[in-house]
Amino acid sequence: MTSTLHRSGTPELLDLHPAAADMRQLVIEGLSQTPKQLPAWFLYDAEGSRLFDLICQQPEYSLTKTETALLEDQAQAMAAALGDGTLVEFGAGSARKVGPLLEALQRPAYVALDISADHLAQACARLQKDHPDVPMVGICCDYSQLEQLPSHPLLQQRRLGFFPGSSLGNFTTTAAETLLRQFRRLLGPDGTLLIGIDQPKATERLEAAYDDAAGISARFALNLLERLNRDLGCDFDLDQFRYQARWVAAASHIEMALISQRDQTVQACGRSWHFAEGESLITETSHKYSPEAFLNLAARAGWTSEARWSDPRNDLSLHLLKQAD
Ligand code: AVI
Repeated sequence: MTSTLHRSGTPELLDLHPAAADMRQLVIEGLSQTPKQLPAWFLYDAEGSRLFDLICQQPEYSLTKTETALLEDQAQAMAAALGDGTLVEFGAGSARKVGPLLEALQRPAYVALDISADHLAQACARLQKDHPDVPMVGICCDYSQLEQLPSHPLLQQRRLGFFPGSSLGNFTTTAAETLLRQFRRLLGPDGTLLIGIDQPKATERLEAAYDDAAGISARFALNLLERLNRDLGCDFDLDQFRYQARWVAAASHIEMALISQRDQTVQACGRSWHFAEGESLITETSHKYSPEAFLNLAARAGWTSEARWSDPRNDLSLHLLKQAD
């Protein structure tokens, strides 16, 4: 269902958020898997989005700070390579990275897509204040809805995809390839995609980044259970799960999970679910790609490399992709 939320003084916001019934089905599917795993976008209710912003400020989590600095340094070159069109940001969150590009582009327009409606409304309102002349709209949706976006006027001109933050890493490689294909269809034949990709690094750095000393990453994961209890009437006992983040070298990903502290049964979506002591509920994985591995994946989805920028420590890259013919 599509609805338009009206908040005075803020840009237009279209709400396509999946209904609770669809979420129940996804919970049933996720808890039926071995190991149990839920879609990562469930983490981002209003509180989850707030906690994720806090994670980005933790000293151990350098990804956001490094990528933001790279965007600030290279915005002119990136804007020149992108050319004219509407910047479409996927998973915009707080939309704190796009500012330098909006300033550097010749005639910018902006469409922000995100799953958290409140967070999106606040982000767009703040951004519109900073960039009063830039036409913009927020669309609340998940990635599975990309093919059904409304035919908004801002989406009728050339589209420049922007997907920072290495969020592609939160998809399995198969799902990441599918998503890159969806981006290609949505952006059209003359569309380009600027995408941030985090790279493998020392295990201690990675595990600390996803299990910070202040415990924000743990709260972020546990908030998922709180959300399921509140929104879908589940009865997870948060004290009976402990957060763990571990680097799985063979898969080149960080696995974030809640570990059941005892043998227990949880009621969720009209069914009983057994958790053995020590059993994992995976909340998210974060895949790290070398530039070569990423470009191979992108090529399988029909993209080719136009340019790449990386930070002095070579922790991550921003790749500019165009469609392969
Ligand atoms: C949004 N995404 C790229 C984050 C990451 O680094 O995988 C999500 C995250 N979850 C916990 N910490 C960060």
